[in-house]
Amino acid sequence: MLSGAASRPVTVAAMRGLFVTFEGIDRSGKTTQARLLADALGDRAVAVREPGGTPVGEQVRSLLKDPEVEIGAHAEALLFAAARAELVSRVIRPALADGRVVVSDRFLDSSLAYQGEARGLGVDEVLEVNRWATEGLLPDVTIYLAIDPAAAVARAGEGDRIEGEGTALQERVARAYQHLAEAEPGRWHRIDASRPPDEVHADVVAVVEAARAAAAAA
Ligand SMILES: Nc1ncnc2c1ncn2[C@@H]1O[C@H](COP(=O)(O)OP(=O)(O)O)[C@@H](O)[C@H]1O
Ligand SMILES: [Mg+2]
Repeated sequence: MLSGAASRPVTVAAMRGLFVTFEGIDRSGKTTQARLLADALGDRAVAVREPGGTPVGEQVRSLLKDPEVEIGAHAEALLFAAARAELVSRVIRPALADGRVVVSDRFLDSSLAYQGEARGLGVDEVLEVNRWATEGLLPDVTIYLAIDPAAAVARAGEGDRIEGEGTALQERVARAYQHLAEAEPGRWHRIDASRPPDEVHADVVAVVEAARAAAAAA
């Protein structure tokens, strides 16, 4: 289905220790684009997904995605942070120290957008919990895959507990991402995700190459 985009030759120059995250509402194309970027980077990439990527993280993921499990907003935020703490200490920090490019399908900003703003827990409060969980690690580059919630919902894909809450939540999350991106324009890169995957991917590669060049010049 996406084989055309995946097989498209893309050259990404060698780079050292860069942390790239993908953010966006459900079905904006994060998983698709994270995979395309990791494929383009080859051996230098370490691909992770949130929540997950460690034994504890994968169990937390199953719990959070289970439609039968009712979880309060505070517990939900802490479970995401717990999974993230494991991922950072066991996978992301070692990979960055090894000079790899870590490509993460969601990270801390998802908690700020969903739990902090859309669920109303407070962006500053959720940020504080997460800064503690990650011991202050932030992405070098965050790619925001921007798409209209109505267009995203029309895409195929399986729903889970959070996705099942429908477009009202997605509208709030989209606004939250917009605020976060505006507040930190140096780290966030907004890409129009309503276009075909290969076009989105080309923009992603351009952003990552520019970040690599900036890091090399620093
Ligand atoms: N640019 C795109 N245009 C059309 N469909 C897409 C695009 N990117 C992804 N898709 C499809 O939309 C669905 C959701 O994509 P996915 O990458 O899983 O999004 P997310 O991880 O953000 O929820 C999948 O069926 C995927 O194949
Ligand atoms: Mg996904």
